[in-house]
Amino acid sequence: MTDQSTATRLWGGRFSAGPAEAMARLSLSVHFDWRLAPYDLAASRAHARVLARAGLLNEDELQRMLAALDDLEAACASGEFTPTPDDEDVHTALERGLLERLGPLGGKLRAGRSRNDQVATDLRLYLRDHARTLAGQIVDLCQALTGQAAAHVDTPAPGMTHLQHAQPVSFGHHLLAHVQAFLRDLDRLADWDTRTAVCPLGAGALAGSSLPLDPAAVAQELGFTAPAANSIDAVSDRDFVAEFLFIAALLGVHLSRLGEEIVLWTSQEFGWIDLDDAYATGSSIMPQKKNPDVGELARGKSGRLVGHLTGVLTMLKGLPLAYDRDLQEDKEPVFDAIDTLDLVLPAFTGLIDTMTVRVDRLAAAAPQGFTLATEVADWLVRQGVPFREAHEITGKLVSRCVATERELHELTDEELTEVSPHLRPEVRQVLSVQGALRARTTPGSTGPTAVAAQLEQVRSALAARRAWADTTVVPR
Ligand code: ARG
Repeated sequence: MTDQSTATRLWGGRFSAGPAEAMARLSLSVHFDWRLAPYDLAASRAHARVLARAGLLNEDELQRMLAALDDLEAACASGEFTPTPDDEDVHTALERGLLERLGPLGGKLRAGRSRNDQVATDLRLYLRDHARTLAGQIVDLCQALTGQAAAHVDTPAPGMTHLQHAQPVSFGHHLLAHVQAFLRDLDRLADWDTRTAVCPLGAGALAGSSLPLDPAAVAQELGFTAPAANSIDAVSDRDFVAEFLFIAALLGVHLSRLGEEIVLWTSQEFGWIDLDDAYATGSSIMPQKKNPDVGELARGKSGRLVGHLTGVLTMLKGLPLAYDRDLQEDKEPVFDAIDTLDLVLPAFTGLIDTMTVRVDRLAAAAPQGFTLATEVADWLVRQGVPFREAHEITGKLVSRCVATERELHELTDEELTEVSPHLRPEVRQVLSVQGALRARTTPGSTGPTAVAAQLEQVRSALAARRAWADTTVVPR
C-alpha cells in the first residue's frame, strides 16, 4: 500500500495525517464493491444532468462530464482502469478516474450527493439487475423440469410420505411440485422488485440537499418508479437486502430439497434416474463410482445462503438511524448469494435436462408397499361402507398380505370375503396403478388430465416470468 496521505481520499480536509495502515485495511471495501462500478457510473450520469439543470454545471461542463464518465466506463469494462488498494471504495476509485480525465471539473460531481445515498442507489440497481439474471436462471431450471415432467405424465411412481411408499403418483406430477416452489421464488423476486424500485439518490448524507436538485428526475432516469419519500430512511434502509437474501435462502432450500431427492433417486436402493456423465463425478479410489455431486453441492451451498440472511439481519438489528458504517457489511453476503446461485442453477438445469428416468424401475416400485390400499378403502366407501370401517377392513387385508408375503391382488376371493363380506371380487378392478392415477381427476391431483392442465398453467406462468427476466433495469 502506498502512502495514504497522497492517495485520493474523499474526506481529507479536517485530518492532519492519513489513516493508519490498520485503519485503512479495515475500512477498505473496493476489493468487493468494485462490481458496483457500472451502476455508480449510471447514477453519476443522472446526477450530472440534474446538476446541469440546477445551473451548477454549464452545458459545456455537462458534455465534458458525460464524455469522461463514458470514457471511464469503457476503461473499467476493458480493465484499463482498475481500483488500487488506496481507493477506499468504488466511489473513491471512480472519482479518481474522473479527476484523472477532467482535472478540477471532476470534483464538481460530488455536489449534493454523498456516498451514503450513492451506495444505497448502486446496490439497489445492482440487485434489481441481477434479480432478473437470477430469474432467467430459475426459469431455465423450471423449463428443464417441465420438459421431463411432460415426458413422464404417465410414468407412475411411488408417492411418499415419511419417505415410505404412500400412494401411486405421476412422476411428472412430482417433478412439477418442485416447479411450483420455484414459481413462488420467481413471484417473490418480482414482488420484491416493486418495493426495491425506490431511488435513494438525493437523500445526500441523510437530510436531502440545499441545492435545487430533482430526485424524481434522477429516479426516472435510473429506471426507478419513485424517489425515496424520506431521506433518513433512504440511506438507512436495507430491507431490500434482507428480503433479497430471504428469497435467495428459500430458493437455496428448494434447491437443497430437490438435490436431496436427486441423491436418493440415483442411489442403488432407488435407482429411479441415471445421470449423464457430464453431470456426475467419479471417485479417486473406487473406479466404479458415479456420484451425484450437483445435488450434494446444491444441498451444501444452501447453508451459506441461509447464513447470509442471518448475518445481515444480525448486522442490522442494533443500528440507529441513519447511515452507520456497519452497513458496508451488506454487500458481500448478497454478492456471494448471487455468485453461489449462478454456480448451482446452470449445473442443476443441465443435470435435469440430461438425466434419464428409469421408467421400468419406477413403474415396478409404484404399487410396492401396498400403495393401492387407499383404492380398496375408497371402493368400499363407494359401496356404502363408512370410511372408518373401510379403513379397518383394508388394514386387515394388508396385514394378511404381510403375514403371507403377498400383494393385495394375490388374495383369493374366499380370503377377501373372510376379511369382510363387503369385499366382493370386483374390488380387484381398482387394484391397478394406472386405474388409481386415472381416478384422480380433481384439479391439482395426480391424474393425467389434471397434470396436463397443470403443465399448461406452468408453461404460461414461466413465459410471463421469462418476459420479466428479460426486462432492463437501467435505461441508457
Ligand atoms: N463503502 C461504504 C459502504 O459501503 C460507502 C458509504 C461510506 N459512507 C461513509 N459515511 N463513510 O457503506
